[in-house]
Amino acid sequence: MDVHKTLFSPVKIGKHTIKNRIAMAPLTRQMAEADGSPTDEMAAYYARRARGGFGMIITEGTYEEDKLGCKAYLSQPGIANKKHVKGWTKTTKAVHEHGATAIMQLMHGGRVSDPRVLGGKAPVSASATQSGGWTLYTDSDYERQIRNVKNKMWPKVTFNKARELTVKELEKVAQGFADGAARAVDAGFDGVEIHGANGYLLWQFITPKINQRTDEFGGSPENNVRFGRMVCEKVRKAIGKEKLITLRLSQDGVDDFVGAWPGGVEYARAIGNALRGAEIDALHWSSFGWRDNRDSNSKTPMPNVLKEASGLPVITNGGIADGPEAESCLTSGGGDMVAIGRQSFTHPDWPYIVRSGVDYNWLPFDRKYVVRPSLDYGIAYPLGLEDPKWSTKFK
Ligand SMILES: Cc1cc2nc3c(=O)[nH]c(=O)nc-3n(C[C@H](O)[C@H](O)[C@H](O)COP(=O)(O)O)c2cc1C
Repeated sequence: MDVHKTLFSPVKIGKHTIKNRIAMAPLTRQMAEADGSPTDEMAAYYARRARGGFGMIITEGTYEEDKLGCKAYLSQPGIANKKHVKGWTKTTKAVHEHGATAIMQLMHGGRVSDPRVLGGKAPVSASATQSGGWTLYTDSDYERQIRNVKNKMWPKVTFNKARELTVKELEKVAQGFADGAARAVDAGFDGVEIHGANGYLLWQFITPKINQRTDEFGGSPENNVRFGRMVCEKVRKAIGKEKLITLRLSQDGVDDFVGAWPGGVEYARAIGNALRGAEIDALHWSSFGWRDNRDSNSKTPMPNVLKEASGLPVITNGGIADGPEAESCLTSGGGDMVAIGRQSFTHPDWPYIVRSGVDYNWLPFDRKYVVRPSLDYGIAYPLGLEDPKWSTKFK
């Protein structure tokens, strides 16, 4: 499989050697119990992807505290208490049994938290702004059906105006991430990913049009990432050097799919520079097309820019659908690992299929793969799991 030589070579990130360069991207499914406890089905779902050959499993965005307005979604899993820790232990054990590295993504929803989970309180953000979007992931007929919603139409839930966090509160929120990270380690995770992307709280600081602060947490690229750095520092203190910390970044958000940084790659370069020497083992670039930098003045993809500017390894995500594209990303300076999102919903064996080099009829992404238990190995497998065309044993 020479065409995928890099993709299937091990890589060292922080103190961890990951068996190949394929991460499962974080993917929200809202399949936890109402109190945030992860279910056995979730453990099976993650184990299934680890069994499929992914070297690293990054969990869906998980809330770290019951307070502080972290929770963003209905049926979102948490790592806020002992019950959550116990539940996640099943996932980490199963993922490790299949030789994959287990990373928990920690997130704070900020101004795009579903008002139904905030108990009437205003969401919090970098500045007192209001998102013009609406809550995602609860809008399909199928989800409505499985959640027993009686209304004819799933409500389109908009967001309330956010309240600006004080500096004192920022300390508390950052400590919340650290406490959640410590609990994630107790649950057996090899590290955590801090969600600084896709429209959530840390992204709201990094995104100039939302962050209107005039203190040390706003006004320049360095100031805009200061809160993210602070979170990572506190997390490092809580989990030590042996565990992994990755920071996810993006231009777009769940309420702004065409979002672009002002100044494009120049802003990315400034952000990368500002993250030099931070308590981070790798950056994770999130997009829907990793080559698309949304900057008409430059052709350099953002992950290449961030990698060079920060000096950090980069996990690159966005529209990487097949092996040649993944290999091309890795060999062109686009990253040290790739993260596969929608394809991993649909094809839990993506790594094995890719490695085999067989001509494969990739199925399009469908939300049914998000919500349906993935225990049915028949789903998305025109060929049997043990088909000899791809080996299920990595050497
Ligand atoms: C249904 C769905 C849920 C997602 N949930 C998360 C999430 O919890 N955390 C996150 O950082 N990104 C999340 N994403 C973004 C993906 O990780 C990824 O960036 C995106 O799907 C593009 O990558 P792809 O082209 O490989 O699918 C989600 C995407 C989808 C489609």
